[in-house]
Amino acid sequence: MYNFTQDWFSHNLKLFNKFLTQFKDKKVKFLEIGSYEGRSAIWMLENILSKDSELILVEPGYELTNNDVLKENIKNFVNCKLIEQPFEIASKKLLWEKFDFVYIDGNHSKYNCYLDCVLGFHMLKYDGILAIDDYGWDLFYNDGTRPKEAIDKFLNNPNVRLLHKGYQVWITK
Ligand SMILES: C[S@@+](CC[C@H](N)C(=O)[O-])C[C@H]1O[C@@H](n2cnc3c(N)ncnc32)[C@H](O)[C@@H]1O
Repeated sequence: MYNFTQDWFSHNLKLFNKFLTQFKDKKVKFLEIGSYEGRSAIWMLENILSKDSELILVEPGYELTNNDVLKENIKNFVNCKLIEQPFEIASKKLLWEKFDFVYIDGNHSKYNCYLDCVLGFHMLKYDGILAIDDYGWDLFYNDGTRPKEAIDKFLNNPNVRLLHKGYQVWITK
């Protein structure tokens, strides 16, 4: 039914179920930074988001050179909108919006990850949920940095309330 070649999502299902079930069938707004072929996005669309909810995907298509697979996979979801830009550009348009859930899984350099955390947190509603993938990533991005350093710095913000710290980090505001 869908065209997927990678699975960077299924091992996170337990956490997605644990923290997102509260939003099921409510009218909510979700943001995902980094969607690739749409596997995590489609799980949220099929399992959590009602028809009058909204999911915004920010995906520049870097790793696939274009977003044709992603577009085909999400084409039947009227409540899903794709912005084909890097988040550092797309965030200018999104800055005044507020989201119930933000999923950060885009550029894995320390610098971009920190920017995504800070801006994502700014865009998060009070009592909203924000998740960051790859806290436990043991590789390095091509600039020699890792998301962990950025996420640890972000977690020093006293307004951030930690919900879970493992391979992923989940927080609330
Ligand atoms: C690990 S994949 C996302 C996987 C997806 N969330 C899932 O679980 O199925 C990371 C994606 O981030 C995208 N990306 C890279 N730089 C980005 C940026 N600056 N803003 C948004 N997305 C970015 C890449 O093109 C890639 O598709």
